[in-house]
Amino acid sequence: MSSTAFGRRVAQLWSPALALLPLRAFLGITFVYAGLSKILDPHYLDDASPLGVHAQMLHAASTSPIGALVSTSADYSTVTGLAIAFGEVAVGLGALLGLFTRVAALGGIMLALSFFLTVSWTTRPYYYGADLGFAFAWTPLLIAGDGGVFSVTTRLRAAVRRRLDLTLDEGATGQDEVERRTLLRAGLISAAVAAVGVAAGSALALARRPRNASHPPAATPGAATVIAAAADVAVGSSKSFTAPNGTPAYLLHPAADTFMAFNAACTHQGCPVSYTGPGFRCPCHGSTFDQNGQVTGGPANAPLKKVPVKVVNGQVTIT
Ligand code: FES
Repeated sequence: MSSTAFGRRVAQLWSPALALLPLRAFLGITFVYAGLSKILDPHYLDDASPLGVHAQMLHAASTSPIGALVSTSADYSTVTGLAIAFGEVAVGLGALLGLFTRVAALGGIMLALSFFLTVSWTTRPYYYGADLGFAFAWTPLLIAGDGGVFSVTTRLRAAVRRRLDLTLDEGATGQDEVERRTLLRAGLISAAVAAVGVAAGSALALARRPRNASHPPAATPGAATVIAAAADVAVGSSKSFTAPNGTPAYLLHPAADTFMAFNAACTHQGCPVSYTGPGFRCPCHGSTFDQNGQVTGGPANAPLKKVPVKVVNGQVTIT
């Protein structure tokens, strides 16, 4: 093939929508990955874990401009958590497959903005947080759609047109019928995949949740709040718990006669730290703390807040 013919061939195949393919692939894979990671994470639906969606929502509610809404949603953290995870998978698949691409883009924008208003709201300067960038990254797909490139909707439309034996020049009535049938088919396929996926995914996520997952103990005025039986926390181990005020925290048992507890909120910007033994690590910007809660690596520069505990009749209680 001569270079001129090759150039003509490339020009025939070129479509402006091809320019959006890398963005579609990146957003699609990232959102599917993010959603599946949540569904497969045993801590995600554990209300007692500082890494769970319940603890993260309670923390975000204290700083978010939509705190009241987040706080109410935290009362239904299992449903909210599953909706977030399946929403991410759905918009990711929509972008990858070219199925309701504009709807998927709108969903992606709404998810990213809700993350920006909650988990990323305290990030300074604002452009260090990824969620605002994700919200804007979805906008080209909302405006332009998939342009018919690698698009299940376009293939369905072509199949409908063949079935009706229509050409591209058919009148408005014929085109309307094609669109109606395409929408119906795409909707049925999406609904069937969503029903099976949500049922299987919810069962998997709930099965992976620790059996003792529960809401934090209710505080009875005047009564000590029991965190755990001392014998249940082996020397050298830790236990995550949610304090009666809803704050995620960790109980440590570093030596035979010593129990310590710390608020799990990182003193940098409040992300929940995780206990990595024998210290803590913050997943947001990498701060580390030793098992006494003291900073061993920034950017945090203040120790973790201590929760006073003591052992009473074999029970570790908050004093
Ligand atoms: S929130 Fe920034 S290091 Fe923890």
